Amino acid sequence: MGRRKLKVRLLYQRGGEQNPLKNFNYKEAFERLNIKQVKEELFKVMTDSKAWWPADFGHYGPLFVRLAWHSAGTYRIKDGRRGANRGFIRIWPIYNWPDNTNLDKAIRLLWPVKKRFGPSISWGDLIILAGNVALESMGFKTIGFAGGRVDSYLFEEDIYYEKELQLFKQERSLKSEKPSELPTAASTMGLIYVNPEGPKGKPDPVESALEIREAFRLMGMDDEETVALIAGGHSFGKCHGAGPVSCLGEPPDEAPLEEAGLGWKNSCGKGRAEDTITSGFELAWTKTPVRWSIDFLEHLFKYNWKLTKSPAGLWQWVAQDAPEVIPDAFDPNRRHRPMMLTTDLALRFDPVYREIALKFLSNPERFEEAFAKAWFKLTHRDLGPENRYLWKERPRELFVWQEPLPPGSSTLSGEELQSLKREIKESGIPLRDFLYTAWSAASTYRDSDKRGGANGAKIALEPQISWEVNEPETVKRVAKALKKVAEEFSNSTGKRVSLADLIVLAGNVAVEEGAKRAGLEVEVPFTPGRADAEQHQVDVETHRYLEPEADGFRNYLKAKPKEFTPEELFIDKAQQLTLTAWEMAVLTAGLRVLGGNFKKRDYGVLTNRPGALTNDFFVNLLSPEVRWQKKSPKNDFIYEGYSRETGKRLWEATRFDLIFVADSELRAVSEVYGFEGSLEKFVRDFVSSWVKVMELDRFDVNWR
Ligand code: HEM
Repeated sequence: MGRRKLKVRLLYQRGGEQNPLKNFNYKEAFERLNIKQVKEELFKVMTDSKAWWPADFGHYGPLFVRLAWHSAGTYRIKDGRRGANRGFIRIWPIYNWPDNTNLDKAIRLLWPVKKRFGPSISWGDLIILAGNVALESMGFKTIGFAGGRVDSYLFEEDIYYEKELQLFKQERSLKSEKPSELPTAASTMGLIYVNPEGPKGKPDPVESALEIREAFRLMGMDDEETVALIAGGHSFGKCHGAGPVSCLGEPPDEAPLEEAGLGWKNSCGKGRAEDTITSGFELAWTKTPVRWSIDFLEHLFKYNWKLTKSPAGLWQWVAQDAPEVIPDAFDPNRRHRPMMLTTDLALRFDPVYREIALKFLSNPERFEEAFAKAWFKLTHRDLGPENRYLWKERPRELFVWQEPLPPGSSTLSGEELQSLKREIKESGIPLRDFLYTAWSAASTYRDSDKRGGANGAKIALEPQISWEVNEPETVKRVAKALKKVAEEFSNSTGKRVSLADLIVLAGNVAVEEGAKRAGLEVEVPFTPGRADAEQHQVDVETHRYLEPEADGFRNYLKAKPKEFTPEELFIDKAQQLTLTAWEMAVLTAGLRVLGGNFKKRDYGVLTNRPGALTNDFFVNLLSPEVRWQKKSPKNDFIYEGYSRETGKRLWEATRFDLIFVADSELRAVSEVYGFEGSLEKFVRDFVSSWVKVMELDRFDVNWR
């Protein structure tokens, strides 16, 4: 099989052409928004039952809780993608996912509120706020709300997406295993999390617990948060399965045009109210489905559960020794027995979940607090660090997963800056080490959930300081020298400058010196104001996922990936850094010649003037006079370049380097920087791309 074409186009999805609100300042508009008014409107929606989609028990609260949960619950900690952040639940493909059946109705019910406040509250924010209001209107006190979710108008694809789609096209009762390198949290595609009937449809609560634990872990939740979320969520509402799911039509984007964006038309009975079919399960958990209570946990442990089937033929459980105490959603004269899903029973039959659930049962306040905190985390953790939040209701407590930072100090005169640069140059540390550390710090950023980056100087703390790719010894040396610079600066000026700022500034110095050696004077723009985190302010667990397995920029490959090629992971890294293909190319080329390779290796250092910021990487890579071959037949990562004329070995390079000529779209970009006379353009583009990466996490000065 030939080489898979690289999806360079993944790097061109951020131009903004798709966004009709491209130049709209969401932050300003949202901060002006009267949130009380929005909430008042939402409170009214909760009990304003519409004949076209009547509310169960006269209250839409549970439906909106499910909407907010499904919007946020797609988040996956491995690559930080999805979640509520970009309003993906309202557009293809997530809008059409089987698990989101009938959430199109929930979104339509919110339209009058969205229409009134227009661009001042994004769909992403409105859906989460509606979830909060739903909980509050059902008697549950939430702990806070922040905005900042900017809507997308097109689903952003990534290297994983095609594989996910292949899984998605298979049956719901998936037989094949999910490839381990896929970052999705769900055990089954098209589901947000796990199969409610049990693994692959087998109604076994103990095995189901294992699947839940894995799915929720990959959503960034621990056991206590998982129990709180499931028990808390299922303290409301019901499942809908009045008849077989075969009664349902196509999802919204595939439904006939006359459905005008609604999907899953139900052709059985009257197709709504008591005839509603959503998941195919038919059950309710509590005596007060639209009022917060401890019923779910009480019922879970009080009764003996018997396996049964829903009218749609799905496995579910009934409390065989319980009286009929559960109200009917529409008929005031009917009552039902409590029922549960296999996944609900997992909370009783898994020993760890059981202990947590019993603790909550015996202490309802503890349960309430745990659910409130877990709900806040579920709905906010994809927003990025706390300095990106547009607060409307700030909780009393800040959490480590929000990665709050102390305020930075942001005033440095031009003269002070110059004197700091001089000190940096005279510190005795090789400029290459400054360059490497600045890049290592800033390039931890991932735009998916806006985590990582140079701010906080977390590169000097665990876990980042121990990552092999960061060269721990280099980081320690650099941090020590820069702390000394900061101390001397403070002694002579009385001003504080953070390590985070100095790491970036020292990287800039290395770039400026590199340009000078290539014959060009440049000043790399620098914006001070970064802060330094303390160890207890780092969410170590989350940061683990920021460690790159492969990083083409530093020519680093930890281990050969199984499902993807190293260069595909390189594209992924560039996408997470919001880079275009040409930005990726100039940064790679510049880092190579300035010594930005892991362990100073020679791979891809295609220049005779290392340390000078030249475009030699492109010039030599594009030369038809060089013949490339694998270093050894078994090693398809490292290549050697020989002179066609003399047969002399000239260079060594990796796959990460060769893609810039082997891939026709990347080659087209490389040529622009290989032209005669393009040195100045190359340096200019390198500097602007470098600054872009250094400042990706500066939400304090450039909110996006
Ligand atoms: C409803 C499964 C976790 C909140 C449902 C339904 C299913 C389901 C099958 C029925 C949908 C329908 O037919 O209308 C699961 C599974 C979970 C899980 C397998 C995890 C293992 C959660 C969480 C929350 C939540 C974490 C919120 C914190 C709700 C609510 C409803 C619901 C409020 C009722 C919706 C309504 O009344 O319309 N869930 N769920 N669920 N779920 Fe979950």
